[in-house]
Amino acid sequence: MDSLKDKIDLQRLPRHIAIIMDGNGRWAQERGHDRLYGHYHGVESVRNIVEGAAELGIGYLTLYAFSTENWDRPEYEVAGLMELLVETIRKEVATLNKNNIRLHMIGDIGMLPANAKKELWEALEFTSKNTGLNLIMALSYSSRWEMAEALKHIAADLKAGKLKESEIGQDTLQHYLATSAFPDPELMIRTSGEYRMSNFLLYQLAYAELYFTNVLWPDFRKENLYEAIIDFQNRERRFGKTSDQVRQELSTEG
Ligand code: IPE
Ligand code: IPE
Ligand code: MG
Repeated sequence: MDSLKDKIDLQRLPRHIAIIMDGNGRWAQERGHDRLYGHYHGVESVRNIVEGAAELGIGYLTLYAFSTENWDRPEYEVAGLMELLVETIRKEVATLNKNNIRLHMIGDIGMLPANAKKELWEALEFTSKNTGLNLIMALSYSSRWEMAEALKHIAADLKAGKLKESEIGQDTLQHYLATSAFPDPELMIRTSGEYRMSNFLLYQLAYAELYFTNVLWPDFRKENLYEAIIDFQNRERRFGKTSDQVRQELSTEG
């Protein structure tokens, strides 16, 4: 029997997959444990999915790990998550390097505790020469924070004469976003049965295919990722055109 992985068309992989990793708290509570127990198990899913994406040859994987709004959670949970972050980076950086994975980070890094910042900078530097999967961690991230930052930079560049009002076009904002070096995600996955964006890549996901699953993040494994990619590959992406036009373009492309 063919495995799910064999059903994936490797010529038509999404270049960039973005994931809202949700449901850790519920997963733990279902088992009568503290929410942090769910976050610890969520790390195993991260490891598995990063490995799966790298094996397939995905170019970019963005993982939403902590939102600017998550700072408002109970103090012990925030502290536990930060500790887990530091510990995980420390443990995983050698494996990332071995697998030629380059780590990136988007978000308000200034909000992070000093030891987390240090660990992160080191990991970013350590993996900066790698040329395989680009793993983008969204940490203390939100779209509205990112857009406000972009606007500040645009205002400064206008004032300094580096940018002229007449030059502002549809692409301008993109150049000022934290994700300016990455292509837009083509597939966005959210786990845990929630159907919302929670302030994640609102600009960049304009034409992404959205995939929602009831699987809670700590249960999410490569097979679930394959399912999402197969679903993506069965969709028709029209970008505003008609279905006839899209099919015609595909047939002339050969
Ligand atoms: C996602 O799981 C991880 C973070 C937001 C840090 P949650 O902690 O949101 O888990 P639920 O949604 O409460 O189950
Ligand atoms: C979104 O999950 C943020 C992350 C997964 C990091 P939340 O659990 O914080 O989102 P809401 O509050 O349910 O919208
Ligand atoms: Mg949640």
